[in-house]
Amino acid sequence: MKIVILTGAGISAESGLGTFRDTDGLWTKYDLNEVATPEGFARNPALVHEFYNARRANCLKAVPNRAHMALARLEQYYFGEVLVVTQNVDDLHERAGSRVVWHMHGQLSRALCAACNHRWDSAPELTPDDRCPACGARAVRPDIVWFGEMPYLMDEIISALMAADLFVSIGTSGNVYPAAGFVDIANQTGTPSLELNLELSDTAPAFTQTRQGPASVLVPAWVDEVLAR
Ligand code: OAD
Repeated sequence: MKIVILTGAGISAESGLGTFRDTDGLWTKYDLNEVATPEGFARNPALVHEFYNARRANCLKAVPNRAHMALARLEQYYFGEVLVVTQNVDDLHERAGSRVVWHMHGQLSRALCAACNHRWDSAPELTPDDRCPACGARAVRPDIVWFGEMPYLMDEIISALMAADLFVSIGTSGNVYPAAGFVDIANQTGTPSLELNLELSDTAPAFTQTRQGPASVLVPAWVDEVLAR
């Protein structure tokens, strides 16, 4: 038995990290075209670094919540396989103890050279003057997948979804593709699906079952159910 779990900003909301599209979300305060696109980075790298430096600092201060902990517990005690595919760029799943976590939108803790594609552990703050440790180019960016770029590990994620026995989506608004289309892949292969979200997402009608509430309550309760079976 294999469970594939997709997580989004909602699972980290109760750890104090802002979501994107809620009423006080990050995309109500920042223009995503300026801070989350390759074109925005080319126009104003200092602004983009400032945005992600602030997010990296918030992430360092945050601690995993009961939902992250519950998923780590599921991976540890479930008799089958558990894969967490996250859209989140924080490391709260790993800090909670999950070992198999695929970051489809990249990670704040990593830096990427736009000139040679070298990747390394990011300093707490990046600036436009930084040089790539491999090729020396002044082309250092956060290792984050921006709008218009291809998310990481897509072939592997699609294969995992096709082999899954259950697909669970937690804390994501169903706004951003390809992640928003994962439930369709589950439906095409006849795999049951469950949405755990504060409110019904845009893709809620496609799920076999939906539950509404905070992740810190819903996720531990669902994990208890699965482990008790
Ligand atoms: P969104 O901000 O779009 O959606 C967050 C979802 O979490 C909403 O549906 C909320 O109702 C729900 N939510 C909020 N608090 C919650 C809680 N305590 N418990 C459970 N659910 C809660 O964030 P994402 O769907 O993750 O990409 O956004 C997807 C992508 O869009 C992000 O990875 C990011 C963003 O632009 C890039 O930056 C490329």
